[in-house]
Amino acid sequence: MRKTVIAGNWKMNNDLAQSEKLINELKNLLQNEKPNCDVIIYPPYTSLSEASKLIKGTVIKLGAQNMYFEESGAFTGEVSASMLKSVGCEYVILGHSERRTIFEESDEVINKKIKKALSARLKPIFCVGELLSERETGITNDVIKRQILGGLNGVTEEEMKNIIIAYEPVWAIGTGKTATPSQAQEVHEFIRDLIQIDYSLETANDVTIQYGGSVKPDNAKELLSQKDIDGALVGGACLKADSFLGIIKSV
Ligand code: PGA
Repeated sequence: MRKTVIAGNWKMNNDLAQSEKLINELKNLLQNEKPNCDVIIYPPYTSLSEASKLIKGTVIKLGAQNMYFEESGAFTGEVSASMLKSVGCEYVILGHSERRTIFEESDEVINKKIKKALSARLKPIFCVGELLSERETGITNDVIKRQILGGLNGVTEEEMKNIIIAYEPVWAIGTGKTATPSQAQEVHEFIRDLIQIDYSLETANDVTIQYGGSVKPDNAKELLSQKDIDGALVGGACLKADSFLGIIKSV
């Protein structure tokens, strides 16, 4: 049985005090809940150390929003996998569409990051997704295939046990436009088929594939009821503890 994972990508939001407040609110709300899923938060780098202390003893797990593929050295402004481990991160988002488009990260760079994260025992949340223009010209599957094969190049079947994939159509991120459950299901199934061809039926059945793009408490249940959708990567709606909890409770 694969795991359902609800994760909150805070993006570039919340300074230290705001991060503490949001985590404490979430902790309070989760106190009397037994979530039917794994819960992960991805605060900005500057809040990770404190977040790691605040979530001790709770169900909340911690991840970072990005990292660099080198171990250390003259890479001004970058953060390494071992640095993230040292502040309590278990997960790292890689290949987010904002990294791909704003910071021009290629499939090759994302692949290097995925391999580095895995070797440092950080679990990558590997994001893929098509632009609106790509969907409109009917090349969604080609784009997803290129991103999946490029990102996972050289990743072993054993390592696949530590990867979560997130399908995030770029046109649905932060726009309020969600993919319909059937549009999302179609791409999730396509991704699972790709994993089966590249690895095995077992690995394809075991890999968690999250959906991301304007997930909210009122649309989460329908999306999560699709057979190949195993969770959500949430942006905007994770910045308020009650709406993030609403999504967690819809599992
Ligand atoms: P959104 O962001 O929920 O605000 O659309 C999702 C994401 O970028 O992971």
